[in-house]
Amino acid sequence: MRVPSYFDSLIELCRRDPSQRTAHLGFWDPPPPPGETSAPGEHSAQRFALAQHRLDERLLALADLRPDNVVLDVGCGLGGTLDTINEREVRVVLCGLNSDPRQLALCRQLVARSGNRFVWVAADACALPFAAHRFDRLLCVEAMFHFSSRRRFMTEAARVLRASGVLVASDLIVSAAARAFDGPSFPIRRVLDEGYGPWPDFWGEEGGHHGLAREAGLHCSVLEDVSEQVRPSHRFTAPGGITLREALASPAAGPAARAALMLKWLHDEGHLRYVLLRLEPAAR
Ligand SMILES: C[S@@+](CC[C@H](N)C(=O)[O-])C[C@H]1O[C@@H](n2cnc3c(N)ncnc32)[C@H](O)[C@@H]1O
Repeated sequence: MRVPSYFDSLIELCRRDPSQRTAHLGFWDPPPPPGETSAPGEHSAQRFALAQHRLDERLLALADLRPDNVVLDVGCGLGGTLDTINEREVRVVLCGLNSDPRQLALCRQLVARSGNRFVWVAADACALPFAAHRFDRLLCVEAMFHFSSRRRFMTEAARVLRASGVLVASDLIVSAAARAFDGPSFPIRRVLDEGYGPWPDFWGEEGGHHGLAREAGLHCSVLEDVSEQVRPSHRFTAPGGITLREALASPAAGPAARAALMLKWLHDEGHLRYVLLRLEPAAR
């Protein structure tokens, strides 16, 4: 299974500094000052890390965790979100699932506290290797767009959730209107697939979250559009000193830089939505 190429540098970073475990965009409320970008170094890196933590906080507030919960984080990255739970909850089972064994190897360095237990599983999000009704909480932070099918993932999520369970997720949606700009000289899909892929259902043809959830037997109780609160993050992830057009024309720019600039363009032009979701089994 293909692992997003941008993870090579995140894995390197985490090997050098094991506290660097977050691989998602951030939540800005209030927004950063207009001029602030990734360029100034230490200070802005800390500001971005805080915004990333704030996104975790928003999602964990929706998850409403309880002691003794059994939690599964699908596409758990380097374990950052589960470690945040580890710091504040007691006696929870924290299961992280990822298709990339290199990320899981770094997750295994985390130390459980307060009667918690970590379990790390290498598997595909669309074929969860668990019996039915195993989990109280499922998390899926900024990972669903990578999966081969959101529909299959939601069906699997519905199967492994308990009747009282909750799935909390964040996801990216590219507008169908952006397709009109996609072409050989401005290859939106190819650039994002090369730098930030796999992104199989790029144009969202499988359907929206409400409909997919309903088909899977889940009820979507929260679908919050936080695009504007997430959009400033691209100032920290996209390189400065080069425009998207220049990056597209220069082979030296590299796939990750091109993808970061393209994602920023989509978001700035209103073609990218960032949503927070809370889903529950429909037949409670
Ligand atoms: C943008 S990262 C988010 C990581 C983490 N949730 C976080 O917020 O820090 C997406 C994650 O999904 C994982 N992933 C991608 N496709 C997957 C799949 N089919 N099954 C399981 N994990 C997958 C990637 O390896 C990566 O860890």
